[in-house]
Amino acid sequence: MAEMTKTLTGFAAAEIEKKQGAVRAQEQAVAQEAAGTAEYTFDVTDMDLFYGDFQALNSISMKIKKHEITALIGPSGCGKSTFLKTLNRMNDWVEGCRVTGKILFEGKDIFKEVDPLALRYRVGMVFQQPTPFPKSIYENIAYGPRIQGIKDKKKLDEIVEKSLRQAACWDEMKDRLSKSALGLSGGQQQRLCIARTLAADPSVILMDEPTSALDPISTQKIEDLALELKENYTIVIVTHSMQQARRISDKTGFFLLGELIEFNNTLDMFTNPSNPKTEEYITGRFG
Ligand SMILES: Nc1ncnc2c1ncn2[C@@H]1O[C@H](COP(=O)(O)OP(=O)(O)OP(=O)(O)O)[C@@H](O)[C@H]1O
Ligand SMILES: [Mg+2]
Repeated sequence: MAEMTKTLTGFAAAEIEKKQGAVRAQEQAVAQEAAGTAEYTFDVTDMDLFYGDFQALNSISMKIKKHEITALIGPSGCGKSTFLKTLNRMNDWVEGCRVTGKILFEGKDIFKEVDPLALRYRVGMVFQQPTPFPKSIYENIAYGPRIQGIKDKKKLDEIVEKSLRQAACWDEMKDRLSKSALGLSGGQQQRLCIARTLAADPSVILMDEPTSALDPISTQKIEDLALELKENYTIVIVTHSMQQARRISDKTGFFLLGELIEFNNTLDMFTNPSNPKTEEYITGRFG
């Protein structure tokens, strides 16, 4: 009897161990899958975009990696801004605009599983022309968090300081917080707009030619800022400057007539482009 109990116990223990092993393997698989999706901020598959009858983007697939800077280059009208605006569903406001295909943001389908308003907080955008509100510097930053429901003055003060510090504006602006943002220089206004975007607590910052209206020194400040911010944020930047793409981006995507011709590590793309059209464009033969 004792022998039988021992065998049964041994059998039960082996069974339990086997089940635990299976559970561990399952847990590992789930964790790996989560890590796999978390690696990419955006996973775009076979995306087409139409403005009415006009197809502006054709079968775009692109994985945008977390905490990297991805540059989008290509001649005027090739669809860079259109692609960028699709990532936070800003094209929803364009009448007649239709998107097909799939876009995952942090593993979730932006058209099915994410509220568009919440998406726009998480995926902030900075435009070519700085667009501060005609309000004080403080109010420019506090406006978004207030709309998000934060009323406590101390908390708002904290957010304003933190966002301005992150956007490398605090020292220049801390003594003029109540002054109009319109009195700032173009470069300062652009950094203020980046601070305003950061105040909404995004995980991504989309930048559409953020330095094309700025002088070289302001441009360098924005580029340094982008390099600093990528530690904590994913950045996608549209630029007409090949030098800028080379200087700051990890990956580059080359668009032409609505198609993504090449998407690669920036260094590889600029030293050894795989498509002749990319080579022509980056060496300045057209565009
Ligand atoms: N709201 C719109 N309605 C209709 N067509 C549009 C709209 N916005 C853009 N387009 C068209 O879609 C194409 C892509 O435009 P988009 O603005 O994305 O180009 P881009 O690559 O950003 O160009 P640029 O470098 O000049 O900013 C163009 O042919 C443009 O005319
Ligand atoms: Mg554009």
